[in-house]
Amino acid sequence: MIISAPGKLMLLGEHAVVYNHPCLVTAVGQRLFAEIELISKPVMQLDASDVNVAGYEKPLQDLGGGEMPQGARFIEIAVRNFLSKFPRDKGIKITTKSEFSSKFGFGSSSASTVCVIKGLSEIFGKKISKKECFDLAYKTVLDIQGKGSGFDVAAAIYGGTLYFVTGGKIIEPLKITELPIIIGYSGIKADTVTLIKQVAEKAKKYPEVINNIYLEIEKLVEQAKLAVLSKDWITLGELMNFNQGYLAALGVGSRKLAAMIYAARDVGAFGAKLSGAGVGDCMIAISSRGIRQKIEKEIKSVGGEVINIPVNVEGVKIEK
Ligand code: MEV
Repeated sequence: MIISAPGKLMLLGEHAVVYNHPCLVTAVGQRLFAEIELISKPVMQLDASDVNVAGYEKPLQDLGGGEMPQGARFIEIAVRNFLSKFPRDKGIKITTKSEFSSKFGFGSSSASTVCVIKGLSEIFGKKISKKECFDLAYKTVLDIQGKGSGFDVAAAIYGGTLYFVTGGKIIEPLKITELPIIIGYSGIKADTVTLIKQVAEKAKKYPEVINNIYLEIEKLVEQAKLAVLSKDWITLGELMNFNQGYLAALGVGSRKLAAMIYAARDVGAFGAKLSGAGVGDCMIAISSRGIRQKIEKEIKSVGGEVINIPVNVEGVKIEK
């Protein structure tokens, strides 16, 4: 059985969404594929060439313990979590392939986690709802990272564009058909766990300031949701610019991202901001169709890489 799940791109609300506030996220059209087979030997076997894992094997009863290669962690813990909820004694062979490089920050770990949980539920004939799939996949992310909102897991499962609140308290698909964004990759890898910790330290020292910033970001997300639904790209751009200001205040901006963001705004983007944990990974801009190429050229001129991929795409699915 082959399962695929999309990557994700944060539109507004990062960091605040870790602390019980909403965000907007869209699924991106580069997918992670997982082939899952049952085998008689009671082990998990894994080949994941995109994260340098080849010929990895572990007995089912040892999953989650002992040595784990970096690239195997999410899949191994996902299998363990699935089997501890739905015990089975068959061995499992998993092979993953990604259409996107894990360097972009599109969420290859969460997409692979989702593929494995969905795939196991299908192959073992144990149907689970989207929310049950989310809960198991989110638990897997928390077991490994300790912190995280789960927005990336939700995007991989539900696809489309979502209004999402921490831990899946609200997962609301937004019925939209277009989202004219431009994606620029900074060439720098963002370290999400470290950045979440840095912001948390700031919040310890300046609790009121940071809490107020989160509340302001929440207001922007609420308005942005309406702007997205009514295709009011000018307002969405303005709200993104506000959001970028608050992210800079949280300390997760960078010179490179700022250069790309200003490059886009200078030639007429309605708005531009970083997307995700910050410092590196990607920025996004929103504009009218007519000046798209101009913006792309300007982002490249300051060293950014433009990534042309569809957004608002389908969530996890069975390929065959
Ligand atoms: C990282 O892409 C976005 C954060 O909000 C973390 C999360 O929501 O899990 C910083």
